[in-house]
Amino acid sequence: MAEVFETVEQLISEIESAKPDTPEALEQFRIRFLGSKNVIKPLFGEIRNVPNERKKEYGQLVNKAKELAEARYNSLKEALAAQSEAAAAKELDLTRPGDPFGLGSRHPISTTLNRIVTIFQRMGFSVAEGPDIEDDWHNFTAMNTPEDHPARDMQDTFYLRNSAELLLRTHTSPVQARVMTSQKPPIRIIAPGRVYRSETISARSHAQFHQVEGLYVDEGVSFADMKQTLMYFAQEMFGTPKIRLRPSYFPFTEPSAEMDVWIGMDNEKNYRLSKGTGWLEILGCGMVDPQVLENCGIDPERYSGFAFGMGIERQAMRLYDIPDIRLFFENDVRFLEQFKAVI
Ligand code: PHE
Repeated sequence: MAEVFETVEQLISEIESAKPDTPEALEQFRIRFLGSKNVIKPLFGEIRNVPNERKKEYGQLVNKAKELAEARYNSLKEALAAQSEAAAAKELDLTRPGDPFGLGSRHPISTTLNRIVTIFQRMGFSVAEGPDIEDDWHNFTAMNTPEDHPARDMQDTFYLRNSAELLLRTHTSPVQARVMTSQKPPIRIIAPGRVYRSETISARSHAQFHQVEGLYVDEGVSFADMKQTLMYFAQEMFGTPKIRLRPSYFPFTEPSAEMDVWIGMDNEKNYRLSKGTGWLEILGCGMVDPQVLENCGIDPERYSGFAFGMGIERQAMRLYDIPDIRLFFENDVRFLEQFKAVI
């Protein structure tokens, strides 16, 4: 009977005198006294064999052994950690060069956007913004898009749930309406931003992309002013002033045109991009329809203006030779890292 008391006493002195001085020895200590199969655990069971009058004393002794093992383990662990820190400090080489931070890079859409914005800012345009969630009036009605226009179709437009009124803007043109209803001419703005269309996602089209809108309203603004402005833009952006305006249709401009830039076809890439014509389609434009001016509270008898809108992704794809529009939105660092050198 006295044997169990003795066993516990022995363990206690073993715990008190243990001096593990390596992480491995400390782990041995932990396994022996605190692990799931530790030596103290079975001693609790031995209480069955201790006579009643000594049970309490025995229980306290075993508990003491357990608590001691825990306390000792914690203090030994701290001592060892301090030791290895001191050793590391001794080896510290202050002359070693630091680890460089990995530099991030701008997204190719941002770089392209910034380039376009800067070109127009130099011509005196300032940046305007509108919300991605638009109402039907700014996106369609003000822009002279009739109720039965196919662009309003659910198949093209993302409407917000339970709302015939709120939608994700399908182009940046609603910013025209926002500016014209809040500012007096002369107006000279560009509006970069995200637009949304309910389209099947493929290598060439995405349900979310970026546009830059431009608007110039003042007295006596002519088609020639628009052409000159866009020609200058083409020169700065693509290094060629050779542009072509093809007649087109938009509900909010009259007359309307689409602008192509001459990229030639003297190499395979340009031949492919221009589908064998040498011309690359860049933007839609036209003279602001007098009805749009009127919708926005600007007197069409006194003022005239031009507007244009262009997609960014397509231009970025051309600029950086990117074959698939989806790459822009996957945020794969292996893709993005390639644009580190681009400012
Ligand atoms: N909003 C037109 C589009 O998304 C582009 C455009 C803007 C055309 C302004 C003419 C004038 O295709």
